[in-house]
Amino acid sequence: MSAQSQTSLLHKHMGVLFSTMSSLELLRSLDSFDAREDDIFLVSYPKSGTHWVAEVLENIPHAGITLTSPIELGNVSKFEELKMVSRRRVIPTHLNYEMLPVTVKQKQCKIIYIVRNPKDTAVSLFHYYRDNPNLPSPETWAAFLELFIKGDVVYGSWFDHILSWEEHKKDENVLFLFYEEMKKDFVKSLKKISAFLGISVTDSEMSKISRHTSFSEMKSNAAKENCDPNHVICALTPNRNLVFRKGVVGDWINYFTPNQKRIFDELFTEKMKSSEVGRLLKEYV
Ligand code: A3P
Repeated sequence: MSAQSQTSLLHKHMGVLFSTMSSLELLRSLDSFDAREDDIFLVSYPKSGTHWVAEVLENIPHAGITLTSPIELGNVSKFEELKMVSRRRVIPTHLNYEMLPVTVKQKQCKIIYIVRNPKDTAVSLFHYYRDNPNLPSPETWAAFLELFIKGDVVYGSWFDHILSWEEHKKDENVLFLFYEEMKKDFVKSLKKISAFLGISVTDSEMSKISRHTSFSEMKSNAAKENCDPNHVICALTPNRNLVFRKGVVGDWINYFTPNQKRIFDELFTEKMKSSEVGRLLKEYV
């Protein structure tokens, strides 16, 4: 990717790359956001299953929520726009813990943090970079993986993101969800979500949610609603068609060469040596 495309599509805030769709004024003023005690934040590193969990939340009957667009998307008028939402807000974001507005921390808003193993995340982000006109197109998978490893991609290093959030994994107001666990036992994850939010969901409602939020259902619905400006979950594109690619665990095997795998595994072992999340993800990397 050329230096020129990097400049027009991406810029840095606190040493981390962001899409220019997130204005620097907005990023610099995040701490002036006025959180409400009942806000729910839906947080993830990009490509970890954010749209999936957002859809799950929207499908919970009687949840009384409104899903907003990401807090870091747009310009300084963002906070005025969020003020207009009268119901309980679900606010998506890919921010690391440090950048999360201070009032969200002070008010101990509920936070759902989604994790996905970094190899599948890297492959998914590679395709997003390639297909999304709002991101600079990488020349090759190898070139992109190098950037991912260095943390020279949007929202920075996967490792830094996960580790910044893991420090708060045991906080009462934080729920960690794993993409791989959702794939393995969706109902178990759904029960965790409903218990965390204090909303009861019946068995028949659970099967309905499970059907409505399956990968195939979401992919075909995305084709219908496509660029609905009121349904933007990722700060990197309003085009939902770019999101639903394969929706599987372990696709990385089709991309990593043995040498890339060795380098990545060494890095993973080093960075995640004291991490419980690292131990839980080990079987998927
Ligand atoms: P792949 O590119 O590996 O297919 P995000 O929503 O954070 O951008 O994450 C996008 C990833 O989640 C994509 O991964 C996408 O296919 C996958 N995904 C989206 N909805 C899904 C669903 N209902 N079930 C499983 N995976 C889903």
